[in-house]
Amino acid sequence: MTKPGANPSIWDTKPLDPTAILLTDKVAIVTGAAQGIGEATALALARFGAHVAVCDRKKEGVLATGREIEALGRRTHVGVLDVRDEDAASAFIAEVGEKFGAVDILVNNAGGGFWSPFLEVNAKGENALIRENFGSVTIFIRHTAPLMTNGGSIINVTSIEGHRAGPGFAIYSAMKAAVTNLTFSLAMELASSKIRINCIAPDMVPTPGDEGLGDASGAIDFAGLELTAWPETGSVQDCAAAAVYLASDMSRFMTGAALHIDGGTWASHGWKVKSAGGFTL
Ligand SMILES: NC(=O)c1ccc[n+]([C@@H]2O[C@H](COP(=O)([O-])OP(=O)(O)OC[C@H]3O[C@@H](n4cnc5c(N)ncnc54)[C@H](O)[C@@H]3O)[C@@H](O)[C@H]2O)c1
Repeated sequence: MTKPGANPSIWDTKPLDPTAILLTDKVAIVTGAAQGIGEATALALARFGAHVAVCDRKKEGVLATGREIEALGRRTHVGVLDVRDEDAASAFIAEVGEKFGAVDILVNNAGGGFWSPFLEVNAKGENALIRENFGSVTIFIRHTAPLMTNGGSIINVTSIEGHRAGPGFAIYSAMKAAVTNLTFSLAMELASSKIRINCIAPDMVPTPGDEGLGDASGAIDFAGLELTAWPETGSVQDCAAAAVYLASDMSRFMTGAALHIDGGTWASHGWKVKSAGGFTL
């Protein structure tokens, strides 16, 4: 027999219908929102009803995203900052708190890396990758979670590289894996505050930042192979859709999980689809 929890499910008082996906008047923060997955996610959250604060170090791009959010009839707050800078990040988050009162959704999307054999990465480069892909996430969670006074949803954009080897991207991959593990721990620590925390782990989603990464390494040779098992190209909108789901009540009982938005790459565990048909390892 199921032991009843201390509190009832929201579905005891609310119907599961299409309104459950809506984010009407929720307040979101999206980092790295000038382009790519961050921009698409910020606009999707706004289309589903949220007011969306955005930040990025690319001034023109993030200002343009802010204008698009306003054109959707939602409010915004724009920060031009480096997410590794705790003073700048905490000041931006405090401004969002003052403007909107509380925060409901945080998308830690800003991140990235460069191809280099591990033995050629110097201490400065390593530190930059750690702060970019892990330190920024802890900074934003530490300063935003206290503003999630009505509960909330934290969404960390990690990567397939956090779930497998990343030759040429060793530090980047290790930091994405670190964010995945951080997500497990914080799912436990933040649950009593009704703050959920989950990951989106993309692969092969064309973005400005993704352009040429594989070519630059020369390490990825897709000749005769399909990029993914799924026979269509991934899109930033696929990641944005996952973020809307994780932000909404539709995922109300999900915390500490990763959604693999990757056309089957994670499931394949190394198997590739041959263009001529069949599979190979
Ligand atoms: N595109 C993919 O296939 C893919 C795959 C796996 C993971 N990801 C992850 O998705 C996220 C978004 O990637 P994308 O492909 O959209 O990249 P992108 O480079 O197109 O966009 C990233 C945005 O984040 C901003 N940004 C990066 N570092 C920043 C910093 N220190 N301070 C402020 N802004 C910063 C950039 O200016 C840019 O606008 C990243 O965390 C990336 O690791 C992407």
